[in-house]
Amino acid sequence: MPVISFANAKGGAGKTTAALLLATEIADRGRRVTIFDADPQKWISKWADLPNCNHRISVISEVSPATIAGQIQEAAQSGDYVIVDLEGTENLLVANALSMSDLVVIPIQGSSMDARGGAKILSLISKLEKIVRREIRHCVVLTRTNAAVTTRAMKAVQDSLAGNGVDVLMTPIVERAAFRDLFEFGGGLADQNPKTVTNLKKARENAAMIAAEILERAEVLPVRRRWYQFHKRAS
Ligand SMILES: Nc1ncnc2c1ncn2[C@@H]1O[C@H](COP(=O)(O)OP(=O)(O)O)[C@@H](O)[C@H]1O
Ligand SMILES: [Mg+2]
Repeated sequence: MPVISFANAKGGAGKTTAALLLATEIADRGRRVTIFDADPQKWISKWADLPNCNHRISVISEVSPATIAGQIQEAAQSGDYVIVDLEGTENLLVANALSMSDLVVIPIQGSSMDARGGAKILSLISKLEKIVRREIRHCVVLTRTNAAVTTRAMKAVQDSLAGNGVDVLMTPIVERAAFRDLFEFGGGLADQNPKTVTNLKKARENAAMIAAEILERAEVLPVRRRWYQFHKRAS
């Protein structure tokens, strides 16, 4: 099953939130997910200790630069969807996880600082593609956007990414209390109470659209087609 990593060299970009939304959406559809909690802050592991943790989600928090590649390979072979939540930095563990990914999702808030952290990952991916000699598919998702307005800073980030040929998801992750609540109360959006969580329906629609866009990009391609795409892009 596909390996999907969430990376941005800057902390606070929305990686963990996006990773958890995707994991819980997949699990709610009856599929099994393994999440690698590769951030020393261990937010995903803390979430897994809260009530309502879906039995289809297993979290692996013991990871190291030396073991991560083998661990990811083993989990992917077991038939689970594999999601890797990375630390907001550039290091060997991040590079090894990206090399093993079918898709790298780069969450970026509409600010130039976040975009710089995203750009570091984009340039790391392009170096790694030469080493592993295949395309490492990647896309940007804009995060914490205002439900009502598009800010000038966000529009500037969006335009600059599109100008550089970066694939940006059509659906941004909106700033919603419901997404923060998951880390307080546990479970996924389906486990939250619509009477106490504001705009839960909107949050669920948003998460479902994001998951659909990510999963459609994460389909595992046969190796030969990957080679073809990589060489076509490189030439
Ligand atoms: N879409 C969102 N809506 C509301 N709060 C969010 C959203 N995305 C992130 N946050 C909050 O912003 C902070 C950083 O997000 P997080 O996902 O932990 O980023 P990262 O993993 O990149 O460091 C957290 O407090 C999180 O709850
Ligand atoms: Mg995080």
